[in-house]
Amino acid sequence: MPIEINDARPSSLAHLVGQKAVVAQVATAIDAAFEDGGRFDHGLLVGGPGLGKSQLASVIACEMATEFHEVLGQSITSIGDLNALLLEAKDKDIIHIDEAHQLDRRSQTALYLALDKQCLFAGKRLVQPIPIANFTLLLSTTDEFCLLQPLRDRMKLTLRFEFYSDEELALLLRHRCRALGWDVAPEVLPLIAVRSRGTPRLGLRLLQACRRVGRSQGDHAITVPHFERACILEQIDGLGLGPVERKYLSILAEGSTRLNVIASILGLPTRTVSDVTEQYTVADRQSQRKAEARFVRTHYTRSPSCCGDLGFQGTP
Ligand SMILES: Nc1ncnc2c1ncn2[C@@H]1O[C@H](COP(=O)(O)OP(=O)(O)O)[C@@H](O)[C@H]1O
Ligand SMILES: [Mg+2]
Repeated sequence: MPIEINDARPSSLAHLVGQKAVVAQVATAIDAAFEDGGRFDHGLLVGGPGLGKSQLASVIACEMATEFHEVLGQSITSIGDLNALLLEAKDKDIIHIDEAHQLDRRSQTALYLALDKQCLFAGKRLVQPIPIANFTLLLSTTDEFCLLQPLRDRMKLTLRFEFYSDEELALLLRHRCRALGWDVAPEVLPLIAVRSRGTPRLGLRLLQACRRVGRSQGDHAITVPHFERACILEQIDGLGLGPVERKYLSILAEGSTRLNVIASILGLPTRTVSDVTEQYTVADRQSQRKAEARFVRTHYTRSPSCCGDLGFQGTP
């Protein structure tokens, strides 16, 4: 039996949970590509960490039955790295550059020139007329505005990822348990879902933590006591907030709203605060979780010091 949560990941669109708008866009683009006998359109995948961008990129490659080449933006440190990647791909292959906002300006420029001319470039200069294949480029990013406008313009599809509902997350966790052959008490999954901050990666991580607790006690099935123990060990409260998010909210409650001030108190780079910590806590206030967010605000405004006291039993 697999013991790693990522040993069983969806490989087809039908197995993806939620993101209905994105899935519909992708299904249409796949049908169009097959009708034309062409490749999948270049696409930009935009959304917070852990919402399923990389997952979708690999599913597109499976659905198109093509080879999948995946790299992290920060691992492309020279035009040589970029050219090696582009030369490796064959017609209709999928190249996925994750964290594409980490690509420097030179690489981004070389990339869109290469797409236009289907040749390799060094910066703006054509080095050699080496032709490259007619592949699909997928760029994933948490911040599309860190990409050069001309590069963004060449992405025909923009796929925007939203937070998942608790019901979608519970279903996603159930599918994953089934695929892994993990035995889990049905009441555990909704409890994990409401503490996942709308994010599959966080839900799956907590599920893995629950299993770890269960196995440490020699049990095979994941039960509510394992879940409760895992929340304590991981310091996850009734709203799914961890120590950093709790501290972030108490800083807000104390009146600091400037990003650089909050980041320096938290001891984190401003980018991490805006991309990771704030993603859910801020989106929360306008979304279906308004009530929960208000509860957090009231709670923290009244008593910012009681960060750790929400307790995993608390009804959000
Ligand atoms: N719609 C989905 N259905 C099933 N599993 C998903 C879905 N979205 C994300 N996941 C799972 O959540 C985890 C994080 O997804 P990932 O693609 O790495 O996020 P991102 O690239 O946006 O940071 C992975 O284990 C992935 O398999
Ligand atoms: Mg990713």
